[in-house]
Amino acid sequence: MTSFHKEIERRLTFAIISHPDAGKTTITEKLLLFGGAIHVAGAVKSKKNTRKTTSDFMEMEQARGISISTSVMGFEYRGRKINLLDTPGHADFSEDTYRTLTAVDSALMVIDSVKGVEERTRKLCEICAMRKTPIITFINKLDREGREPVDLLDQVEEELGVAVCPMSWPVGRGREFRGVYSVPEKRLVFFDPHGRQGGEGSVEISGLEDPLLDRMAGSSAARLREEIALVQGVYPPFDRKAYLEGKLTPVFFGSALNNFGVRELLDCFVDIAPPPLPRPLEGGSEISPYAEKFSGLVFKIHANLDPRHRDRIAFMRVCSGVFERNKTYYHVRSSKPYKTSNPTAFMAQDRTIIDQAFPGDIVGLHDTGTFKIGDAVTEGEELKFTGIPSFAPQIFKTVFNLDPLKSKQLDRGLDQLAEEGVVQLFTRLGSNEKLVGVVGVLQFDVLRYRIEHEYKALCRFEPSDYTTACWITWEDRKALDDFVRRHEPKLCRDREGRLVFLARNRWMIDRTMEAEKGIRHFFTSDY
Ligand code: G4P
Repeated sequence: MTSFHKEIERRLTFAIISHPDAGKTTITEKLLLFGGAIHVAGAVKSKKNTRKTTSDFMEMEQARGISISTSVMGFEYRGRKINLLDTPGHADFSEDTYRTLTAVDSALMVIDSVKGVEERTRKLCEICAMRKTPIITFINKLDREGREPVDLLDQVEEELGVAVCPMSWPVGRGREFRGVYSVPEKRLVFFDPHGRQGGEGSVEISGLEDPLLDRMAGSSAARLREEIALVQGVYPPFDRKAYLEGKLTPVFFGSALNNFGVRELLDCFVDIAPPPLPRPLEGGSEISPYAEKFSGLVFKIHANLDPRHRDRIAFMRVCSGVFERNKTYYHVRSSKPYKTSNPTAFMAQDRTIIDQAFPGDIVGLHDTGTFKIGDAVTEGEELKFTGIPSFAPQIFKTVFNLDPLKSKQLDRGLDQLAEEGVVQLFTRLGSNEKLVGVVGVLQFDVLRYRIEHEYKALCRFEPSDYTTACWITWEDRKALDDFVRRHEPKLCRDREGRLVFLARNRWMIDRTMEAEKGIRHFFTSDY
């Protein structure tokens, strides 16, 4: 294997998906501790979930729960280079999360054992399913009196529509939680609750029959033996192919806060998670990470909302070849050369200038408005990536210009911020009226703040009745003309010029579309 191949094979790029408060931050911190990327607990900023609406940018940034320094956290573990992509904690910024999921090769799903599968987990899982992203599941907070493990497994299977395969099993629950039994390895790892974090002080037991089990687990021992017999009877052994196809999720139990079961999870992740995978291109083909020539995909643009640090960074995933600093590349959308002298790599909290990056790596590019989400950077090839869908927004507001002398600035601001993915922008058919679509109201605050401070324009957002939308395609010109004639007031175009139908609710869309012949509709732009 060449060193280029080795570099690709040793990379693992993933994101954590969870409902807020399930333990994403806590687990991230433990992973970084294992990777030696941080040395003290508490180093990863707590991403508290402020639910109030605010126009203060610092609070918005906090709500977003993500900063440039934690957007990508790289660390080394067992010879692998692991890139963990952070996703915003607040549901209002879930579009950021969707985009980040297009840049990973696998995901780790964290579920709170007390609450079970929650609403955001469900939605994020759907996104993973669309792309067949392999998922490993960690059921957290076993130190609390939660639901029964079997019930949780059933829930994951039923609600998320994937088969489950328990890889570890809890010994005791709640206050009696003592450790985990590794199902494939038939090994027990006990945790000393008084021991130091990191699993130190753990005792290994040779098998279920070892009398040490009774000494350590007391009354939980008999229950564990029974449950393991059941688990082995009910669940098939782990099937890596099914996992890689996104059809099966291996499940671990533990407590991130106490660092119970996290190392087992990380070890398994390193053993089974996929190295960088090919990325889909327009026209149905794909680009292999092993292709010699460099290509990269911009999947996210992060503008720091703090005016003292107004840096905007485009996050690019290296999809193929080797990215090199100071080399002149090609920005496909503008057909212009592109060169950067200070590409950034991310190691835990540090940002460092890098000379080289390999497929699976995320490079931060300082941006002054060149990039747009979905952009490709290549060595000259006219590549176009697919697979960064926009989802139908849930709140729409009409934009009113409050300073007629600044209408150009307002238009430019709206356009550029839509390019950055802050909001989605629509223009009504037959007029120049602009509508802004968002998933969560905090996005409006970010937009208003940035329009005012960066573009020096003033605007107001007026509520509209629409709460959903769909993208439209048609079979022939006549079908389109008839449709437009009937529904013009509800039609607009997105920034790509695609036709979008707005509606008060999903039922209206279903009813309208049922009656239309020759018209098809989609709830993501990725049709
Ligand atoms: P998030 O990023 O998914 O939103 O979750 P985060 O890690 O911030 O965890 C949410 C809360 O759950 C935190 O408590 C955290 O300490 C707690 N937690 C995480 N893992 C476990 C676990 O294994 N067991 C128990 N019992 N709790 C856990 P908090 O009180 O909201 O914050 P903090 O004051 O502890 O930071």
